[in-house]
Order: sequence, then C-alpha cells, then structure tokens
Amino acid sequence: SVIPVILSGGSGTRLWPLSRKQYPKQLLNLAGGEYTMLQDTLKRVSHIDAPIIVCNEDHRFMVAEQCHSMGITPKSILLEPVARNTAPAIALAAYQALSFDQNAVIAVFPADHVITNAEAFQNALNIAIAEAQNNKLVTFGIVANKPETGFGYIKADKSAKGLAYHVEKFVEKPDLATAQQYIESGDYFWNSGMFVFKAEVYLKALEQSNPKITRACEKSLKLAKTDLDFIRVDKEAFKQSPDDSIDYAVFEDAAEQSNNVRVVPMDAGWSDLGSWSALWDILDKDKNANAFVGDVISINSNNNLVHSPKKLVATIGLENLVIVDTDDALLIANKDQVQDVKKVVGQLKKYQ
Ligand code: GDD
Ligand code: MG
Repeated sequence: SVIPVILSGGSGTRLWPLSRKQYPKQLLNLAGGEYTMLQDTLKRVSHIDAPIIVCNEDHRFMVAEQCHSMGITPKSILLEPVARNTAPAIALAAYQALSFDQNAVIAVFPADHVITNAEAFQNALNIAIAEAQNNKLVTFGIVANKPETGFGYIKADKSAKGLAYHVEKFVEKPDLATAQQYIESGDYFWNSGMFVFKAEVYLKALEQSNPKITRACEKSLKLAKTDLDFIRVDKEAFKQSPDDSIDYAVFEDAAEQSNNVRVVPMDAGWSDLGSWSALWDILDKDKNANAFVGDVISINSNNNLVHSPKKLVATIGLENLVIVDTDDALLIANKDQVQDVKKVVGQLKKYQ
C-alpha cells in the first residue's frame, strides 16, 4: 500500500506577524483562497489513502478540525511533544506505517507547499511510487533557476534514459558561491522537500547514518499513549532523539554511499511559501506589479505586497514594500529583506 504522510510541524517564523507559534503558516490561508495550506495538501493526496499526519501537540485540535471539515479521517495523527526536525518526524510516521503494512510505501509531503498543476504533480508522484516499490529513496527535482541557499541541491545523472534519474550528489543548503556554481553548471535540481520510499527502506538508511534517531523514535512510539483521536509519542524517549533533517541525516549520505537514490523531475508550479516575497511571487498582480490580499487603494505604487484582509489600506508612492496588517502587529519591510523577519521573531522571544 501507499500511505501519504503529512508533515505539519514547522512554525513559519519568516511569515510573522500572520504566522505564529500557536498558529503557524500551514494552518493558515495566506493566499486568500478557500483552504489552508494543510487542507490543500490533504486535498492533493488523500485520494491515495487516509494520511498519517505528524504535528506538534500544541496544534492537535486545529489539525483535527481542518481534516474533519474536509470530511477526511486520518489514519493517525502523531503528536510530537518537542520539535526534532524532519528525520525523526518521518521516522515516527515510518514506524507507524509499518504497523499497518510491513511493505508500506510512504509518500511524504510538507503541509506548507503550494502546487498549482495537480496533473503534473500526480504524474511525477506515480513515477516516484513505482521507483519506491523498487526499494529506491525518491526525491522530486525542481528546475533550479537562481542561487537560492535555502534549498537542497540534487545532481542528477541525466545520461541514462528513463523517467527518474540516478542521484549522484545531494547537497543541503550550500553557501551562495557554491549555489551559483551549481546554477551555472545546469546539472542540478532543487530538492522539493517531498519524498517517497518504503518505510522499511527509509528506516534502514536512517539506522545506518543515525541510529540514535531510529532508537528514540521506535521507543517513543512503543510507549505512546492514545488520547482521543491522537497518538501522543512518549516525551522522554522522543527527547533523546538528535535534532536533524532528512536531508542531512539520510539523503546526503545515501546519495554518496549507495546507488539507490532517485530524482523525479517535477514541473508542477511548486513553491515553498517560505517568506513574504515568495507569496508575492505566486499571487496575481496588478499592472504595477502590486499583489494584494484585502482591499487596497494604491496610488503611484509599484512592486508591493499588501496583506490586510480586515482593514482597508491606502498606499501612495511606495516601492517594493511588504505590508502585513494583523490585529496586534503590523509589519512594514523592504521586499528584498524579508528573510530578516525571523530576526524580528528572535527579538520577540527575548521579550517573552
Ligand atoms: N512534524 C514535523 N516535525 N514537521 C516538521 C518538523 C518537525 O520537527 N520540522 C519541519 N517540519 C516540516 C515543516 O513544517 C515543513 O513543512 C517541512 O517539514 C520541511 O521543513 P523546513 O524546515 O521548512 O525545511 P527547509 O525548507 O529548511 O528545507 C527542506 O525543504 C526545501 C524545499 O522547501 C529541505 O528538504 C530542502 O532540501 C528543500 O529544498
Ligand atoms: Mg521549508
């Protein structure tokens, strides 16, 4: 069987003040559409099977409610007592999948990605599932077109014919100079952050590179307690897990040391909505390249993003700004510096 796994654990600090610790971006509707990003993800994958969702315990009721309102009953909602990044989160889901089916393939999706072309997505997914059934660790490759340092880079061997390429190298978040080289070479894809593999194959690879993670996750799930619709993994056991991402803990090593990593190219309007400028990128714009969520009167203003669903905003003579209004906080930022929103959140933590 193929079981979708949805990761809904991040906090989306670069999308403050809309995204908050208690109410992170994947549970929000940032682009002003009908559904939250978690719900869009559910909609995209729940035809495969009921999903396993992994999230922080603080978000359990919102996650359950967002599934319920779409008529979706997850197979399991696994609650993490602390955040330990994606390698352990996926390990929990993999052990849980094995409890349903020893041969399960899991298809892992972050809850905070935008995909506009559902058909292209589904085609790539089908190819990935076939590879995974053949014991491969599969990633999806997005054509890399700028030296973005927040992504993983995948070097594919394009010489062999086929729908999935052999991965020669996987480099998570290179520095800018290295990213620039990769872009110039034209040999690299961005890693999309979605993965498909047999639960067993993933756990074996993780066991090899980082047995402390598999041990902690296996134990924390064995000692887990069921609470209403939720599975609370054991806190003491899970806290013993190192904090590491699947990219560093598994894919970099596996690409280097084994022959079983594959990348399926995907051209499906994918976007990792990581920052306010990424939201500006995907929204419809007026003739002056302004994107608005909410009512805005814009005079002689260009290249701005205004997000203010509740209050009318008027702009005069503004260039390249991000303006985000919420009930208790207002952000005004240069659109080229929105990565630094996380510094604001860092300062907020100091005041707590
Ligand atoms: N349940 C759970 N628990 N989910 C988590 C946790 C956790 O501890 N940490 C992160 N996640 C979820 C996030 O919510 C997000 O949906 C996804 O896992 C990826 O985590 P990020 O923290 O957003 O990773 P990243 O953006 O820095 O990098 C990853 O994604 C890029 C593409 O968006 C990597 O896979 C990169 O290689 C990739 O290019
Ligand atoms: Mg991300």
